[in-house]
Amino acid sequence: MSPAISRRRYLAGVVLASICALPPTISAQRAATYTPPPPDSVHAIATEHGMVVAQEKIAARIGADILRQGGNAVDAAVATGFALAVTYPRAGNIGGGGFMVVHLADRKEDVAIDYRETAPAAATRDMFLGANGKPDPAKSRDSALGIGIPGTVAGFALALEKYGSGHFTLAKLLKPSIDLARDGFVITDDVADTLPQWHRRLAPWPASAKLFSRPDGGSLREGDKLVQSDLATTLTAIAEQGPDGFYQGPVAQKLAHAITEAGGIITTDDLKSYRAVIREPVRGSYRGYDIVSMPQPSSGGIVLLETFNILEGLPLGEMKQGSAASLHVLIEAMKRGYADRARYLGDPSFVNAPIAALTAKDYAAKLRAGIDPDHATPSSELQAALPPHEGSNTTHFSVVDSQGNAVSNTYTLNFSYGVGIVAGGTGVLLNNELDDFTAAPGASNVFGLVGYEANLPGPGKRPLSSMSPTIVLRDGKPVLVTGSPGGSRIISTVLQVLVNVLDYKMDVAAAVAAPRLHHQWLPDEVRIEPGFSDDVQAGLRSRGHRLVESMGYSSANSIQVTPNGLLGVPDPRTRGAEAAGQ
Ligand code: DON
Repeated sequence: MSPAISRRRYLAGVVLASICALPPTISAQRAATYTPPPPDSVHAIATEHGMVVAQEKIAARIGADILRQGGNAVDAAVATGFALAVTYPRAGNIGGGGFMVVHLADRKEDVAIDYRETAPAAATRDMFLGANGKPDPAKSRDSALGIGIPGTVAGFALALEKYGSGHFTLAKLLKPSIDLARDGFVITDDVADTLPQWHRRLAPWPASAKLFSRPDGGSLREGDKLVQSDLATTLTAIAEQGPDGFYQGPVAQKLAHAITEAGGIITTDDLKSYRAVIREPVRGSYRGYDIVSMPQPSSGGIVLLETFNILEGLPLGEMKQGSAASLHVLIEAMKRGYADRARYLGDPSFVNAPIAALTAKDYAAKLRAGIDPDHATPSSELQAALPPHEGSNTTHFSVVDSQGNAVSNTYTLNFSYGVGIVAGGTGVLLNNELDDFTAAPGASNVFGLVGYEANLPGPGKRPLSSMSPTIVLRDGKPVLVTGSPGGSRIISTVLQVLVNVLDYKMDVAAAVAAPRLHHQWLPDEVRIEPGFSDDVQAGLRSRGHRLVESMGYSSANSIQVTPNGLLGVPDPRTRGAEAAGQ
């Protein structure tokens, strides 16, 4: 056993040294341009039996506690997910949605749970166009029209019912979250870094203002207590009645009332008919590993597989990690994967995407043949172009238990703090996920992701996502669990963490901390984090890449499973993430 791993204890209090080194008032803006520390200066947290790596420490510890009490990875994930809805309102939620990929060790099975928000029955394909017939981003981003029917409660309840250990009821897993919502907790870390900045989106809505403001009307700040009594009542209704406590009865009535009063179109019938869906994950191979990731309505798994298939035929291992030559082929592979995302993908109940063809090795071989090692392929040669945008928040957590089960969960309100509207009397902060639809063919969402017919809004439709909770297996056993927030940057983040570990054999902490870059086909530019040397940047520019020094926020909270135990890495890019284990 390695010295690091022999430190097997309950390690909830331990965080990466690099997180502690961050200035206490680092802002979301500064987090977005955060320079990763030298890869060899960060170290994973080691545990032997089980681990939860999440963006917020109280929630991570609640999940780890469930593992200690004999819960499996799904039990712990559900407890962590509900707790983040209380302690990490920026992205943890019951008013949003997400995806969970689960590896079940005893059944030797992998499943994907789709609890993505859904457009209400009254949605129309032109709902996000203005009077001039052009896309009106304010409608999908800043108004209640952008709210999708929340999926998180249904998703977590389904996960627990189907794949929990059977030893924990929903009520038991919800108890710590109810207590925290009722009694409050002290604001710190990432919530303290982001809430004051986002408060202006919350303040216009009375129930949001009441919850997140000081008596003088300003934002709650570091050291203040956040008490969420209405949320405690809503969580109690879920604990007592299961999902019906949320999707029917008084909570549902209050949600529908608040949404319609704010100009949205979600009804109690929409809430009652919401269903989470169990789907077959996307599965592919990369250099002897199995990659298991999220299928549509996420684009993540498909784009990842397509990109990995392209890379597999290239001698990545012979190019130095982080070198211009290596990054060039990563960029070229990303560009091709994201171009196909735009053209083909959407809600599988509505579009018939050519998944088998897109993820076939021979298709990748054709794409690979078009990569010139010395020159960037202009995006316009792959398809037509549109301008960029910046975007906001989501959160990812990874769980592995002592039996070898694994959960990779990414969920979101879309923007940080969603659309900003707390539904009066419920404490539920609502999403603006429907901005992930394409308002009109060729239009882009807040992340600059272009889409066409396949992703237009429609009744009962789920908007195309980039969230990519992923589990890597070797010989049927998990070796890496990862995922990230970051909108369009999610897929390229997961890709680079995996390449760093699988191709470059980097320690998982160094793999997560290493600077990342991103190309999403359109706009035709490479977004880079600080940390790439002048030489590397010059090498990319000389190949024709346009580099833009603004990468935005990603955070790949990951777990590596080694023969000696678990290595957890809370991504050092934000304050307060933690690997909690036993
Ligand atoms: O589903 C998606 O792809 C987006 N709504 C995720 C948003 C996100 O990651 C924002 N975080 N930085």
